[in-house]
Amino acid sequence: MDVRYFKRFRMDLNLRGRDFGSTDLPTGYRFYGWNSGLVEAHGRAKYRSFCREIDAEVFPCLGHADGCIRLMREISRKEGFLPSATWLLGRTTDEGFEACGTIQGICDHHGWGAVQNLGIVPEFRGIGLGELLLRRALLGFQEAGLSQVFLEVTADNEIAIRLYERLGFRCSRTSYKAVGLVEPTVSV
Ligand SMILES: CC(C)(COP(=O)(O)OP(=O)(O)OC[C@H]1O[C@@H](n2cnc3c(N)ncnc32)[C@H](O)[C@@H]1OP(=O)(O)O)[C@@H](O)C(=O)NCCC(=O)NCCS
Repeated sequence: MDVRYFKRFRMDLNLRGRDFGSTDLPTGYRFYGWNSGLVEAHGRAKYRSFCREIDAEVFPCLGHADGCIRLMREISRKEGFLPSATWLLGRTTDEGFEACGTIQGICDHHGWGAVQNLGIVPEFRGIGLGELLLRRALLGFQEAGLSQVFLEVTADNEIAIRLYERLGFRCSRTSYKAVGLVEPTVSV
């Protein structure tokens, strides 16, 4: 089996005394706070946000709808799962509810907040929703009393890194994630 290595950055942010400003959304959009009935909506928003992105190569479950729903369920059952840092972003149109983005937060064993899977569905990108959703989650970490937060990002993901740096995150560590490439089966 071939192995490919993906360079990843850990980025940290000190939340103490930080003011994340307004999280007012453009008209028609809304943040939905966590409840367990939203597992599938989060999972589907995650899938639509990640399925064609580099992170679906790094974490193959992100390339499958059922993998994303399963991952969402696992995150929500973790000991340190933080509802206050977990948000679904959506809008309601004449056709009904449409999920636009998702983010989740957990508190790790060291008391650090960990941002998980910030994703905005492609057709809603570039209008500031990613930054607003991240700021909403960061407020949620503050509300839970945490003072440090981190995330991990694939080094090639320049758009996400620029967004994180804009909000004050700084790279603290580089690592390499090995991903096994399964040889396609050839039938004759
Ligand atoms: C990373 C990601 C969440 C960013 O979401 P987004 O909603 O596009 O983010 P924003 O709109 O807040 O910012 C992105 C860009 O749009 C620009 N932008 C923001 N508001 C804008 C507006 N009103 N008009 C035009 N552009 C705007 C921002 O300036 C930024 O560009 P820049 O970094 O070149 O300066 C999104 O690209 C995504 O889901 N990617 C796939 C999943 C992923 O990789 N997630 C990160 C995992 S670590």
